[in-house]
Amino acid sequence: MSRSRRPDAPPPAPRRRAVLAAIGAVLAAPVARAATRQATPAQTSGPFYPRTPPVEVDADLTSVAGRAPARGAHTELTGRVLDTGGRPLSGAMVEIWQCDAHGRYHHPGDDRPVPLDPGFQGYGHTRCDAAGGYRFRTIRPVAYPGRAPHIHVAVRESGSVRLVTQLYVAGAPENASDRLLDAIDAARREALLVRFEAGDAGILRAHFEMVVDRGQAAVEPPWVAWMRRHLEDARRTA
Ligand SMILES: [Fe+2]
Repeated sequence: MSRSRRPDAPPPAPRRRAVLAAIGAVLAAPVARAATRQATPAQTSGPFYPRTPPVEVDADLTSVAGRAPARGAHTELTGRVLDTGGRPLSGAMVEIWQCDAHGRYHHPGDDRPVPLDPGFQGYGHTRCDAAGGYRFRTIRPVAYPGRAPHIHVAVRESGSVRLVTQLYVAGAPENASDRLLDAIDAARREALLVRFEAGDAGILRAHFEMVVDRGQAAVEPPWVAWMRRHLEDARRTA
């Protein structure tokens, strides 16, 4: 006796599941494509990533215990870090570093005859929340010779550096002559331009969204990796 199915019989369950999965994949494909985001352009970390621990390591760069508040336009810098599929980098470490309101880095390599603002921390880090969100208190960056105002930013996750870049002040006149900003494809430059707008109680507001490619880990010099570990230890024991 033949064991073949009648033509109108429903296909066996495994085959039905395979057909449904194939249909589902076809339907989901446009959604997956829509969720793909372009990674934020990378930039050099520059020569002023901390080589010695800052006096404090936290997310408020405008306040150092026992000292006057930092000079400059205090700013609430918020943002989110997502991957190219739109997933938040929950728990990732975001680092920022920048010069003080006089244009001076708190770094032994910056020996220009410019006064140092002791109330500015120079560096800070924090971890992203479940939605990939982060928050810093810092100052609106200022220009220094040869550079438009910028804040250096790095994102690390699971021991890998996902992104090193710099954010710039949208509308700053110095942007037009900044060679690092100019090196970025014009169509992608917008991703690094951040508006600094008036907020509550005289604090500016700025928002910087980043997209990282989890398939690409940035390469950094060994001393940077050493200092990152040192900075984390400093925070743990604070
Ligand atoms: Fe810089």
